[in-house]
Amino acid sequence: MKIDVLTIFPEFFGQVFDFGIIRRAKLAGIVEINVHDIREFAADKHRMTDDRPFGGGDGMVMKPEPIFAAVEHLTGAAERAEYPAATRVVMLSPQGRPLSQQIVRELAEDAVQIVIICGRYEGVDERVNDALVTDEISIGDYVLSGGEPAAVVLTDAIVRLLPEALGSETSAENDSFSNGLLDCPHYTRPAEFRGMKVPEVLLSGDHAEIEKWRREMAMQKTKKVRPDLLEGENG
Ligand code: ADE
Repeated sequence: MKIDVLTIFPEFFGQVFDFGIIRRAKLAGIVEINVHDIREFAADKHRMTDDRPFGGGDGMVMKPEPIFAAVEHLTGAAERAEYPAATRVVMLSPQGRPLSQQIVRELAEDAVQIVIICGRYEGVDERVNDALVTDEISIGDYVLSGGEPAAVVLTDAIVRLLPEALGSETSAENDSFSNGLLDCPHYTRPAEFRGMKVPEVLLSGDHAEIEKWRREMAMQKTKKVRPDLLEGENG
Protein backbone atom coordinates (compact mmCIF):
# COMPACT_ATOMS: atom_id res chain seq x y z
CA MET A 1 0.00 0.00 0.00
CA LYS A 2 1.06 3.56 -0.68
CA ILE A 3 -0.03 6.39 1.62
CA ASP A 4 0.53 10.00 0.53
CA VAL A 5 -0.12 12.74 3.06
CA LEU A 6 -0.81 16.26 1.79
CA THR A 7 -0.14 19.02 4.31
CA ILE A 8 1.08 22.58 4.59
CA PHE A 9 3.16 21.48 7.62
CA PRO A 10 5.30 18.56 6.40
CA GLU A 11 7.72 19.05 9.31
CA PHE A 12 4.88 18.20 11.68
CA PHE A 13 5.30 14.54 10.72
CA GLY A 14 9.02 14.42 11.64
CA GLN A 15 9.75 10.85 12.69
CA VAL A 16 6.18 10.00 13.62
CA PHE A 17 6.03 7.09 11.16
CA ASP A 18 9.45 5.74 12.21
CA PHE A 19 8.48 3.71 15.26
CA GLY A 20 7.11 0.30 16.11
CA ILE A 21 4.75 -1.41 13.74
CA ILE A 22 4.69 1.40 11.16
CA ARG A 23 8.46 1.48 10.95
CA ARG A 24 8.61 -2.28 10.61
CA ALA A 25 5.91 -2.30 7.93
CA LYS A 26 7.83 0.35 5.98
CA LEU A 27 11.08 -1.59 6.23
CA ALA A 28 9.31 -4.78 5.14
CA GLY A 29 7.92 -3.02 2.06
CA ILE A 30 4.32 -3.51 3.24
CA VAL A 31 3.63 0.22 3.09
CA GLU A 32 5.28 3.27 1.60
CA ILE A 33 4.41 6.55 3.32
CA ASN A 34 5.29 9.90 1.80
CA VAL A 35 4.50 13.37 3.16
CA HIS A 36 4.08 16.14 0.60
CA ASP A 37 4.06 19.91 1.07
CA ILE A 38 0.95 21.36 -0.59
CA ARG A 39 2.85 24.62 -1.02
CA GLU A 40 5.11 22.93 -3.57
CA PHE A 41 2.10 22.52 -5.83
CA ALA A 42 1.11 26.20 -5.68
CA ALA A 43 1.83 27.80 -9.03
CA ASP A 44 1.81 31.50 -8.05
CA LYS A 45 4.99 33.26 -7.06
CA HIS A 46 4.06 33.53 -3.38
CA ARG A 47 3.04 29.87 -3.27
CA MET A 48 -0.23 30.76 -1.60
CA THR A 49 -2.25 27.85 -0.27
CA ASP A 50 -5.08 29.82 1.33
CA ASP A 51 -7.25 32.85 0.67
CA ARG A 52 -10.17 34.81 2.13
CA PRO A 53 -13.62 33.21 2.07
CA PHE A 54 -16.15 34.31 -0.54
CA GLY A 55 -19.15 35.74 1.24
CA GLY A 56 -16.99 37.13 4.04
CA GLY A 57 -16.36 35.80 7.48
CA ASP A 58 -13.41 34.98 9.68
CA GLY A 59 -10.35 33.02 8.77
CA MET A 60 -8.88 31.67 5.60
CA VAL A 61 -9.89 28.87 3.27
CA MET A 62 -7.47 26.49 1.60
CA LYS A 63 -7.34 27.15 -2.14
CA PRO A 64 -8.34 24.42 -4.58
CA GLU A 65 -5.59 24.75 -7.22
CA PRO A 66 -2.59 23.43 -5.25
CA ILE A 67 -4.62 20.52 -3.87
CA PHE A 68 -5.96 19.58 -7.32
CA ALA A 69 -2.39 19.77 -8.70
CA ALA A 70 -1.04 17.59 -5.88
CA VAL A 71 -3.75 14.94 -6.20
CA GLU A 72 -3.33 14.88 -9.98
CA HIS A 73 0.42 14.47 -9.56
CA LEU A 74 0.01 11.62 -7.05
CA THR A 75 -2.85 9.69 -8.69
CA GLY A 76 -2.36 10.56 -12.35
CA ALA A 77 -6.04 11.56 -12.52
CA ALA A 78 -7.59 15.01 -12.72
CA GLU A 79 -10.76 14.01 -10.87
CA ARG A 80 -12.37 11.29 -8.81
CA ALA A 81 -14.09 9.49 -11.68
CA GLU A 82 -10.72 8.83 -13.31
CA TYR A 83 -8.72 7.46 -10.39
CA PRO A 84 -6.92 4.17 -10.92
CA ALA A 85 -8.67 1.24 -9.22
CA ALA A 86 -8.36 1.10 -5.43
CA THR A 87 -7.26 4.73 -5.05
CA ARG A 88 -8.91 6.56 -2.17
CA VAL A 89 -8.60 10.27 -1.46
CA VAL A 90 -9.43 11.06 2.15
CA MET A 91 -10.27 14.51 3.51
CA LEU A 92 -9.78 14.82 7.25
CA SER A 93 -12.22 17.26 8.80
CA PRO A 94 -14.72 17.46 11.65
CA GLN A 95 -17.47 17.31 9.00
CA GLY A 96 -16.51 13.77 7.97
CA ARG A 97 -17.94 10.35 8.80
CA PRO A 98 -16.77 9.34 12.28
CA LEU A 99 -13.78 7.00 11.99
CA SER A 100 -14.44 3.47 13.19
CA GLN A 101 -12.56 0.18 13.16
CA GLN A 102 -14.89 -0.89 10.36
CA ILE A 103 -13.86 2.05 8.16
CA VAL A 104 -10.20 1.36 9.00
CA ARG A 105 -10.68 -2.29 8.01
CA GLU A 106 -12.32 -1.33 4.71
CA LEU A 107 -9.47 1.00 3.81
CA ALA A 108 -6.82 -1.53 4.84
CA GLU A 109 -8.48 -4.24 2.73
CA ASP A 110 -9.57 -2.30 -0.34
CA ALA A 111 -7.10 0.49 -0.96
CA VAL A 112 -3.84 0.27 -2.87
CA GLN A 113 -3.14 4.01 -2.65
CA ILE A 114 -4.55 6.42 -0.08
CA VAL A 115 -4.03 10.15 -0.45
CA ILE A 116 -4.78 11.91 2.83
CA ILE A 117 -5.54 15.63 2.70
CA CYS A 118 -4.96 17.50 5.96
CA GLY A 119 -7.37 20.42 6.08
CA ARG A 120 -6.38 23.59 7.94
CA TYR A 121 -7.75 26.94 8.91
CA GLU A 122 -11.46 27.51 8.63
CA GLY A 123 -11.79 24.93 5.91
CA VAL A 124 -10.96 23.78 2.43
CA ASP A 125 -12.59 24.98 -0.78
CA GLU A 126 -15.61 22.69 -1.22
CA ARG A 127 -14.71 21.88 -4.82
CA VAL A 128 -11.95 19.67 -3.43
CA ASN A 129 -14.60 17.56 -1.70
CA ASP A 130 -16.88 17.68 -4.74
CA ALA A 131 -14.36 16.54 -7.33
CA LEU A 132 -11.48 14.78 -5.57
CA VAL A 133 -12.42 13.30 -2.21
CA THR A 134 -13.73 9.74 -1.97
CA ASP A 135 -14.01 9.65 1.85
CA GLU A 136 -14.41 12.57 4.25
CA ILE A 137 -13.45 11.33 7.69
CA SER A 138 -13.48 12.79 11.22
CA ILE A 139 -11.56 11.16 14.08
CA GLY A 140 -14.06 12.37 16.66
CA ASP A 141 -16.49 15.05 17.74
CA TYR A 142 -13.95 17.68 18.65
CA VAL A 143 -12.07 20.23 16.59
CA LEU A 144 -8.35 20.01 15.92
CA SER A 145 -6.45 22.97 14.52
CA GLY A 146 -5.73 20.85 11.48
CA GLY A 147 -6.00 17.38 10.03
CA GLU A 148 -2.34 16.47 10.72
CA PRO A 149 -2.83 14.65 14.04
CA ALA A 150 -5.81 12.87 12.47
CA ALA A 151 -3.62 11.75 9.56
CA VAL A 152 -1.25 10.12 12.03
CA VAL A 153 -4.17 8.39 13.76
CA LEU A 154 -5.68 7.14 10.49
CA THR A 155 -2.34 5.96 9.06
CA ASP A 156 -1.44 4.07 12.24
CA ALA A 157 -4.83 2.36 12.43
CA ILE A 158 -4.67 1.28 8.77
CA VAL A 159 -1.05 0.15 8.62
CA ARG A 160 -1.30 -2.19 11.62
CA LEU A 161 -4.13 -4.04 9.83
CA LEU A 162 -2.18 -4.64 6.62
CA PRO A 163 -1.40 -8.32 6.09
CA GLU A 164 1.89 -9.23 7.79
CA ALA A 165 2.27 -5.82 9.50
CA LEU A 166 1.72 -7.12 13.03
CA GLY A 167 4.07 -10.07 12.58
CA SER A 168 3.35 -13.59 13.69
CA GLU A 169 3.61 -13.05 17.43
CA THR A 170 0.51 -10.91 17.63
CA SER A 171 -2.74 -10.33 15.79
CA ALA A 172 -5.56 -7.87 15.36
CA GLU A 173 -8.22 -10.53 15.97
CA ASN A 174 -8.58 -9.66 19.63
CA ASP A 175 -8.42 -5.89 19.29
CA SER A 176 -11.09 -3.76 20.86
CA PHE A 177 -14.02 -3.40 18.40
CA SER A 178 -12.97 -6.41 16.31
CA ASN A 179 -15.80 -8.40 17.89
CA GLY A 180 -17.98 -5.41 18.72
CA LEU A 181 -16.62 -5.22 22.27
CA LEU A 182 -13.84 -3.38 24.06
CA ASP A 183 -10.74 -5.43 24.81
CA CYS A 184 -10.43 -7.38 28.08
CA PRO A 185 -7.82 -6.50 30.76
CA HIS A 186 -4.28 -7.88 30.43
CA TYR A 187 -1.68 -8.85 33.04
CA THR A 188 1.95 -9.92 33.06
CA ARG A 189 4.49 -10.85 35.76
CA PRO A 190 4.70 -10.43 38.69
CA ALA A 191 1.62 -12.40 39.76
CA GLU A 192 1.38 -10.11 42.79
CA PHE A 193 2.43 -6.46 42.75
CA ARG A 194 2.02 -4.12 45.74
CA GLY A 195 -0.62 -6.42 47.10
CA MET A 196 -2.56 -6.48 43.82
CA LYS A 197 -3.07 -10.00 42.53
CA VAL A 198 -3.52 -11.17 38.96
CA PRO A 199 -6.94 -12.87 38.60
CA GLU A 200 -6.54 -16.53 39.57
CA VAL A 201 -8.09 -17.88 36.38
CA LEU A 202 -5.27 -16.46 34.27
CA LEU A 203 -2.78 -18.59 36.22
CA SER A 204 -4.90 -21.74 35.97
CA GLY A 205 -3.80 -22.91 32.53
CA ASP A 206 -7.45 -23.73 31.75
CA HIS A 207 -7.80 -22.15 28.33
CA ALA A 208 -11.55 -22.58 28.05
CA GLU A 209 -12.07 -20.89 31.43
CA ILE A 210 -9.62 -18.11 30.48
CA GLU A 211 -11.49 -17.47 27.23
CA LYS A 212 -14.79 -17.34 29.13
CA TRP A 213 -13.34 -14.91 31.67
CA ARG A 214 -11.91 -12.65 28.95
CA ARG A 215 -15.22 -12.52 27.12
CA GLU A 216 -17.06 -11.75 30.38
CA MET A 217 -14.62 -8.98 31.33
CA ALA A 218 -14.84 -7.48 27.85
CA MET A 219 -18.62 -7.54 28.14
CA GLN A 220 -18.60 -5.90 31.60
CA LYS A 221 -16.18 -3.19 30.49
CA THR A 222 -18.21 -2.48 27.35
CA LYS A 223 -21.48 -2.32 29.31
CA LYS A 224 -19.95 0.15 31.73
CA VAL A 225 -17.99 2.39 29.40
CA ARG A 226 -19.58 2.00 25.97
CA PRO A 227 -23.13 0.65 26.26
CA ASP A 228 -23.80 2.12 22.80
CA LEU A 229 -21.61 -0.65 21.31
CA LEU A 230 -24.00 -3.29 22.65
CA GLU A 231 -27.13 -1.79 21.15
CA GLY A 232 -28.36 -4.05 18.39
CA GLU A 233 -25.85 -6.72 19.34
CA ASN A 234 -27.06 -10.15 18.21
CA GLY A 235 -24.60 -12.34 19.95
N1 ADE B 1 -9.54 18.42 11.54
C1 ADE B 1 -10.00 19.18 12.55
N2 ADE B 1 -10.71 18.47 13.41
C2 ADE B 1 -10.72 17.19 12.95
C3 ADE B 1 -11.31 15.98 13.40
N3 ADE B 1 -12.04 15.92 14.50
N4 ADE B 1 -11.11 14.87 12.66
C4 ADE B 1 -10.38 14.92 11.53
N5 ADE B 1 -9.81 16.04 11.06
C5 ADE B 1 -9.97 17.16 11.77
